[in-house]
Amino acid sequence: MSGRVTVVGSANVDLVTRVERIPAPGETVTAESFNIYAGGKGLNQAIAAQRAGAQTELIAAVGSDSYAQVLIDTVAGEGMDDTLLRREPGSTGTAFVTTDATGENNIVIVPGANGRLRRLTDAERDCIRRADVLVCQLEVPTSAVEDAVTTAWEAGTAVVLNPTPVRPVPAAILAAVDVLIVNEHEAEQLRVDELPVPCVLTTLGPKGATLRIRGERTIQVPARRTIAIDTTGAGDTFVGAFAAEIARGIGYAEAATRANVAASLSVEEEGAVPSIPTRQAVDDALSVERVENQ
Ligand code: RIB
Repeated sequence: MSGRVTVVGSANVDLVTRVERIPAPGETVTAESFNIYAGGKGLNQAIAAQRAGAQTELIAAVGSDSYAQVLIDTVAGEGMDDTLLRREPGSTGTAFVTTDATGENNIVIVPGANGRLRRLTDAERDCIRRADVLVCQLEVPTSAVEDAVTTAWEAGTAVVLNPTPVRPVPAAILAAVDVLIVNEHEAEQLRVDELPVPCVLTTLGPKGATLRIRGERTIQVPARRTIAIDTTGAGDTFVGAFAAEIARGIGYAEAATRANVAASLSVEEEGAVPSIPTRQAVDDALSVERVENQ
């Protein structure tokens, strides 16, 4: 069983500048390189789910500029259906990403077409109903996320929410969430311990992750040693890989372990999309780890 995942979210073109260190306010530094990649949390998570073996569909919006085709070609190049990528007049979402020598980054996004994904069409809702798992983030309007999770909840499709960039999440959305995935900062900002969701997965970067199943237990997801070149999209890789695993019926703890390995592999190369590993690459990394631990 491969499982079906539908992602509703953003698609951006990432303009990535690599610097020795991120400039302080008012400072000018010279970049070591500049590259353009496909990105956006929605698109990254969809590709992560697809490469992790799920049959994945992405509901997103691109603009009418030349960047739009880059994103359409990227989605089609992964073997995913590009018909649910809406073409909106105006600019495609753009992210200005700066990465430093330690692999850390900062990002400024210009929503562009992502901001026009406000309500879903009947065809888009049908796509959510067909899926085993729906994945959403908050780089598109809240109204689209609410529409998507309500549709999923009514159809019995599991909902994974990655509430980033952080903003208040309406109760109607939280009520439909099965698994909330956050990083440490988001966990603190959103006070996730107080949120009424059955499961919270907190990613801890090089320290692994914790999985808290309400009323049951908290599980520590083991870390994997890695050398970070670029952490952009690592969280997205985690989310997409986790969704793909639970869509094929794998339990949360094992799915989180595999997702953590996928995320750790994704930081070893520059660019969000180029560095997302396949399921096979995750299997290989796990086998190497087993041999090393013997
Ligand atoms: O999470 C990484 C992503 O955030 C980048 O690809 C960028 O587009 C922003 O959306």
